[in-house]
Amino acid sequence: MNPEIYKLIHYAGIFTLLFALGSLFTKYNKAAVIGHGIALLLLILGGFGMQAKYKSVYVGQFGATWPNWLIAKIVIWVIFGAMVALAKKKKIQGPAAWIVCIGLALAAAYLAKFKPF
Ligand code: HEM
Repeated sequence: MNPEIYKLIHYAGIFTLLFALGSLFTKYNKAAVIGHGIALLLLILGGFGMQAKYKSVYVGQFGATWPNWLIAKIVIWVIFGAMVALAKKKKIQGPAAWIVCIGLALAAAYLAKFKPF
C-alpha cells in the first residue's frame, strides 16, 4: 500500500485520540473510551505500516529498522494508552491534562519529523 495511505490512517488516529482525550478529561464517558481505543489502533496500524515501508531508509540512516526515535514514539503511545486510567481516577485533570496531551502529541510529531536520535 502507498505509504501516504498509512500516514493518513496515522493522522486519523491522532485526531481521534486528541478528540477522545479532550472529551475524557472534560467528563469521563464510555463513547470517548471506545474512541480512545480506536485511535490507538489506527495510530499503531498507520505507524507500523509506515515503518514497514520506510525501514530500508531507516537502516541506511540509523543502522536499524527500529531506530531509537521510533522506540521513543512507542513509549509515548503507551503513555497515551494509560491516559484513560489517569482520566478515570482523576489523577490529572483540566488544563494540566490538556497541556500534557498536546505536549506528548507534539513530542511524537517532533520525533517523526526531526528524528533526533
Ligand atoms: C506505536 C506508536 C507509533 C509509531 C510506531 C509511529 C510511527 C511513525 C512513523 C514510522 C512515521 C513516519 C516517519 C517518517 O516520515 O520517516 C510517523 C510519523 C508521524 N507520527 Fe507517528 N508513530 C507512533 C505514534 C504516534 C503518536 C502517538 C503521534 C501523535 C499523537 C504520532 C504522530 C506522528 C506525526 C505527526 C507524524 C508525521 C507525519 C508526517 O510526516 O506528515 N505518532 N510515525
